[in-house]
Amino acid sequence: MVRRIHHVAIVVRRLGAAYGFYRDTLGLPLRKEAMIADQGVRAALLGAGETEIELIEPLAGSSGVGRYLARHGEGLHHVCFDVPRVDTALADLKNRGVELIDATPRQGLAGRVAFLHPRACAGVLVELATPDDGEAVVPSPLQLKRLVIGAREPKRMSDLFQALFALPEVTMNDGPRTMLAAGTGTLLVVPAGEVGGTEGMVALSFVAEEFQTLTDACDRAGVRFLRGSGEVTIEPMSSCGVHLHISRYRFP
Ligand code: CO
Repeated sequence: MVRRIHHVAIVVRRLGAAYGFYRDTLGLPLRKEAMIADQGVRAALLGAGETEIELIEPLAGSSGVGRYLARHGEGLHHVCFDVPRVDTALADLKNRGVELIDATPRQGLAGRVAFLHPRACAGVLVELATPDDGEAVVPSPLQLKRLVIGAREPKRMSDLFQALFALPEVTMNDGPRTMLAAGTGTLLVVPAGEVGGTEGMVALSFVAEEFQTLTDACDRAGVRFLRGSGEVTIEPMSSCGVHLHISRYRFP
């Protein structure tokens, strides 16, 4: 039922500062920005290939996202899957006894949206969205290719996500990691022990069309990053708390 990863959301302290990195340095095109009063946030969507990055700034410390920021600091917050009919998908999950935050979809930045409870998704906050008609993919210098998730038991976690969202498993060499496809993107589930004991979303991987241009822009902006051969790893202090890999290669 899932067509693609619609977006991955990042909680930030100030949207303006987050634009400095994600829009101005990485060059992700700003598609939308809006106040979402019922969530107590200001949010923006930036294009990243067939996927988007959502930046969320809480307007008050007392809101749900405000409390999240106070507790965890800036960083990855939720993943949103594009489904053709969110009402049907939600009703189906409800019938199967899946714990939901939103019993019925509502209008959000990404279209008609609804959140599942993280308890139902191995600690990951998942949003489902059916985008409004007529939304075209805009060109972007980066494409989101991979969301890395830490799990105590990767196999169980990917079985759960397959059962809930019908994400096909991508064959990997035997090992403790598992991978699921969502459109052209993937979810890579790794043992929590490999990522400092973290359970939940831990990192994003992008591919860059113009890798050299991108690293030059990071240099000019004073971004902290580790240089590898054909890959850079941005230090979370420069990317609103997100571990971010950018590669020049297209990987499967
Ligand atoms: Co969202």
